Amino acid sequence: MKTIHDFIKAKENKEKICMISTYEYWSAKICEEAGVDCILVGDSVGMVDAGYETTLPVTLDEIIYHSKAVRRGAPNTFIISDMPFLSYQTSKEEAVKNAGRIMKEACVNAVKVEGGEEIASIIEKLVNSGIPVMGHLGLTPQSVHALGGYKVQGKTEESRKKLIKDAKILEQAGVFAIVLEAVPKDLAAEITDFVDVPTIGIGACNETDGQVLVFHDMMGFFDKSPKFVKRYVEGKKLFLDGLSKFKEEVKTGKFPSDEYCY
Ligand code: KIV
Repeated sequence: MKTIHDFIKAKENKEKICMISTYEYWSAKICEEAGVDCILVGDSVGMVDAGYETTLPVTLDEIIYHSKAVRRGAPNTFIISDMPFLSYQTSKEEAVKNAGRIMKEACVNAVKVEGGEEIASIIEKLVNSGIPVMGHLGLTPQSVHALGGYKVQGKTEESRKKLIKDAKILEQAGVFAIVLEAVPKDLAAEITDFVDVPTIGIGACNETDGQVLVFHDMMGFFDKSPKFVKRYVEGKKLFLDGLSKFKEEVKTGKFPSDEYCY
């Protein structure tokens, strides 16, 4: 299994890091078989698996449930679990208690938190408690209402400067990697150059040290995809084809034929 040092080494050696966000036993099993570098149990589970409008309703117990399933599916893969909205922002004590529950109950390797300078002391406390932390800057979905929607970040000079500063602050606070979401290519490149820890991009073009996509997005399970998602498989079509064949064979009595009977 990889360690946080392998991710830092990958950056030094200019080897790209491949991360997938997923939430189930079965999809984690496929990810491990495919040899992805790490799996994120993202709080996007709330939107993708539960149909919420945002990630905000996701609870700590739900993240633990999904993290346990992913750990069972991918016993040899480095796993990072998202800390849900307001499970770490409120105090250092809450953050350590909640991250501790995720680490102890789901046996994952690290947690991810969203935000910059404002949560630096919380990240420091987590890291000093022995909990590896991945940062997340740019479009931070837990702040969707504060940001005024799912928009590309770092487009003004002021927000650009803040993101660059935040990345350095996160590095100094002890994160082992930083997700950069929905930022322009040149800004992602500047941040990637400016910090020694790897950056993992989503909607941040190809200058980052790695890439992450949500499994269900890249597998084409939804009708529409955001611009940054490449659909590697048309999953919805495959499933629909399979289901309509099953339905037809059940209706006509073709399934189950003798080969499927005891
Ligand atoms: O929740 C998630 O899946 C994420 C990734 C998209 C980075 O945070």
